[in-house]
Parts: sequence; structure tokens; C-alpha cells
Amino acid sequence: MAQDQWTAVDEYINATVVRPDDALDAALKATAAAGMPPIAVSAAQGKLLSILARMIGATRVLEIGTLGAYSTIWLARALAAADTRTGAAGADVGTEAGKLISLEIDPKHADVARKNLASAGLEAVAEVRVGPALEALPQLTSEAPFDLTFIDADKANIPAYFDWAVKLSRPGAVIVVDNVVRDGKLIDGSSTDPNVQGVRRLHELLETDARVTATTIQTVGSKGYDGFTIALVNEAG
Ligand code: SAH
Ligand code: DHB
Ligand code: MG
Repeated sequence: MAQDQWTAVDEYINATVVRPDDALDAALKATAAAGMPPIAVSAAQGKLLSILARMIGATRVLEIGTLGAYSTIWLARALAAADTRTGAAGADVGTEAGKLISLEIDPKHADVARKNLASAGLEAVAEVRVGPALEALPQLTSEAPFDLTFIDADKANIPAYFDWAVKLSRPGAVIVVDNVVRDGKLIDGSSTDPNVQGVRRLHELLETDARVTATTIQTVGSKGYDGFTIALVNEAG
């Protein structure tokens, strides 16, 4: 009952304000056709990521966990929009090309993701790198700092991903971590589930992490009851 209603409301939101398009729908279809799990962000969540990227004028975005590039397409679209944005007098100020790097451990997922990005016309904006994210992250220093990082891979490593994301961020950057509420299991201190332990550890670290200003928002929708953490990277000092 609750889930049916949350799904119906997401459908209404999709049909009115969010309006995902053919490229996004095609990416979801191709991901399902490849036998990959239906765990991409919802359309409303994807559009939120895109809006956040545009709000901070992001030109460098990092994603951890690509799957079929559904969230990647939403984020890369924000960068493509940044490329052509104009100043108040109509002058073209969008000369800095946006760039997104997405990290994915599964070569098959990366293959499907690259095809979906190409179909969406975003292959020049978004690059998928294959391998364990914990191996790729230390190599990103020369391509940092990032304006926005979306953490959405294996949940046990969230604390380590978050620490890397902060290190690779500019002051004022935004970090979003998906799936941190987990049907409310976030508050189960006796859980032996490594995913739950990962999101709990993130919250324990955030309690004292002076590098960021963070909050966690609970969500319901087509993907059930979950939530995301959003962190603003503070100015040093
Ligand atoms: N962000 C995507 C969904 C990602 S699902 C979207 O919303 O559309 C999680 C992805 O993380 C899966 O494709 C999985 O293969 C990948 N993943 C899992 N462990 C990983 C690791 N250690 N390093 C990089 N990617 C990983
Ligand atoms: C799973 C992963 C996700 O990133 C998500 O949003 C939902 C589910 C999973 O691994 O089951
Ligand atoms: Mg997720």
C-alpha cells in the first residue's frame, strides 16, 4: 500500500515536473536488457543531481558506481548545459568544457554504460573508468579538484569513498551519498550487514568531520524507503 502510493506519486512527478526523455528511458531499457539490476536512481533523484550540479556551476564531476550510466546521463547533461550557458549580457561564458569521470568495477556494466552515453550524445563529456574505485581514486589527484561527487557503489566502502571525495573536492564542492537510510536500518547498531555498517560509519565520521557541513534526508518513492547524505565541503580554516 505505502509502496504502491510512493510509486504512483513518483509516476505523477515524472509525468509533470521531471519529464525524463527518450535517451534516459533508452538507457534504462538497455540496462535491463543486459540483465543488470534495476537499481539506478529514480528520475526525480537523477534530476535533483542535475539541478545540484547546475546550482553550483559544476564543470568537474566524479561519480563512484556507474551501472548503466543513468545517473551519469543526468549529471553529464548538467555539464553539457554548463558548456553553453551564457552570461547576463548574453556573452558566452561557457568556454570551459565540462568533464565527468565515473568509476565502475564491472567491465560489462562499463560497456553498457559507454553505449548508453554514446546514444545520449554524451561520450565527449562523460568517461567511464573500469576497476575497483579504491584503486582509481588515488590516481585522480591530477584531475582534481571536483565540484560534485556522487557516491553510489558498494556501500561497505562508503566511509573510504567519502574521505577520498573530500580530499579530491574544492571548497564549496558538493558530495551526495546514495542509499544511506536503507529502510531505516541506518539506526540498527547491532546490524551485521556490511552495507548498514558502512552507512552507520559514515554518520559516525560526519559527527566530528570539520571538513564538511552535512545532512541526511530520508526519501520514499519508486525505490522504496531510503535516503541520501548531502555534504558541502567547507572552506579550509
Ligand atoms: N549510479 C548508478 C547506479 C550504480 S549501482 C545509477 O544511479 O544509475 C552500483 C554500481 O557500483 C554497480 O554497477 C557496481 O558494479 C558498482 N560497484 C560495486 N562495487 C564497486 C567498486 N568497488 N568500485 C567501483 N564500482 C563498484
Ligand atoms: C542497490 C544499490 C543502489 O545504489 C541502489 O540505489 C539501490 C540498491 C543494491 O546494491 O541493491
Ligand atoms: Mg544508489
